[in-house]
Amino acid sequence: MSIFHRFSLAGRVALVTGGGRGLGFEMARALVDAGAHVIINGRTVATLDAAVETIRASGGSAEAGAFNIADCDAQRAAMNDIEKNHGRLDILINNVGARDRRALADFDDEAILALLNTDLAASIMLSRDAARLMKRHNHGRLISVTSISGQVVMPGDCVYPAAKQGLTGLMRGMAVEFGPYGITSNAIAPGWFATETNAAMAANEDLMPFVRQRIPVQRWGRPDEIAGAALFLASDAGSFVNGHVLTVDGGMTVRM
Ligand SMILES: NC(=O)c1ccc[n+]([C@@H]2O[C@H](COP(=O)([O-])OP(=O)(O)OC[C@H]3O[C@@H](n4cnc5c(N)ncnc54)[C@H](OP(=O)(O)O)[C@@H]3O)[C@@H](O)[C@H]2O)c1
Repeated sequence: MSIFHRFSLAGRVALVTGGGRGLGFEMARALVDAGAHVIINGRTVATLDAAVETIRASGGSAEAGAFNIADCDAQRAAMNDIEKNHGRLDILINNVGARDRRALADFDDEAILALLNTDLAASIMLSRDAARLMKRHNHGRLISVTSISGQVVMPGDCVYPAAKQGLTGLMRGMAVEFGPYGITSNAIAPGWFATETNAAMAANEDLMPFVRQRIPVQRWGRPDEIAGAALFLASDAGSFVNGHVLTVDGGMTVRM
């Protein structure tokens, strides 16, 4: 088998949370390009419909899966639908990551729990239920989108890095627990990407000296530059990679 065939996802079914735009959309598109059917999750139906339409227009196979991942009942219903409609789930990309950057002293209990729920607990529950489906076929790929936040931290940012590092712990635990069932678990840690969410920062010329000094490639990442990492970890090309954090940051975290 050629190495290119090992990147094929023909016959695979994937769920990408928060896949309607940004990095999630680019990863979903990469899986579709490799032959997978992708369920694109998010809360806003119009965004999901537009994403699905874009993918179908280029000949790919996708459907919208509208639910709030932080809502346990909605999450369970969505997983039941996937089981009923497809009978399998091969790839889960836990991509949703809400951002709430402020000093810890300014967080009340409710805001801490809400962020931990969306950015960590929801992915733990989804992964548990996805692994149950994956075990049936003795094959699966669990991919957690973490962040370089946690390895390096901006002042006034505690809860989000805590959740992302928690996700890294989850990823490692699942690599060990599910490896015997043919299921790998890995993380992608993005650096600074010029997604919609970061549009104002990415357009801020005053930030560019910092970007040039701190990011060795001297620029923001383009959202589509996350796609290769996702495809590698989702496919057989990455079949012996398990428990790894693939940092995609233009070298930001290794610069002294
Ligand atoms: N962009 C970066 O530079 C960067 C850097 C480091 C790490 N990351 C991580 O990479 C991931 C993607 O980042 P991004 O900037 O591409 O994301 P984003 O644009 O902020 O959000 C992606 C999608 O998530 C959906 N979403 C948010 N909350 C949700 C929920 N509770 N349930 C279901 N869907 C939800 C949103 O759609 P709806 O609002 O319609 O639900 C949105 O389409 C995140 O985990 C982020 O922490 C990004």
